[in-house]
Amino acid sequence: MLKPILIHPDPRLKKACAPIDDISDALRTLADDMLETMYDAPGIGLAAPQIGVLSRLIVMDCVKDEGDPEPTVMFNPEILASSDDTNVYEEGCLSIPDQFAEVTRPKEVRVGWIDENGNPQEKDFDGLWATCAQHEIDHLNGKLFIDHLGPMKRQMMTRKSQKLKRELARS
Ligand code: NI
Repeated sequence: MLKPILIHPDPRLKKACAPIDDISDALRTLADDMLETMYDAPGIGLAAPQIGVLSRLIVMDCVKDEGDPEPTVMFNPEILASSDDTNVYEEGCLSIPDQFAEVTRPKEVRVGWIDENGNPQEKDFDGLWATCAQHEIDHLNGKLFIDHLGPMKRQMMTRKSQKLKRELARS
């Protein structure tokens, strides 16, 4: 089922999310709904707070046009290690539609998480996957990609997003 995506600014996007204790069927359904919502948007990542659920759950699929889809669901994801090497990507966010900015982040990260079956997983990511994982995990800590930018740029993008949000509310 498609879920409405919150648009910045929204207080729910600024909250630290609670860890998940138990992977229930309800949470698996929520993860499926998030994947469906992400693919529909379309996007390559979505975090639970973006649909108003303040729990530590993210979904990703950074395989773009070519290649088989790799829907990835992570409960309680954590960055276990980051490379000193950095990478710059032009990032966007489904909660800040139609706006993009370059963000510098560690190039490679090791991520630990619990999968849909309740099993712990650990994997090294690089390239777009590494950027996306960091962006989505930031969401669980109430942080948006614009929080990595300078205050002027952040304010400008926030105002634009606010305007868009008002327009969407009216239509
Ligand atoms: Ni985002």
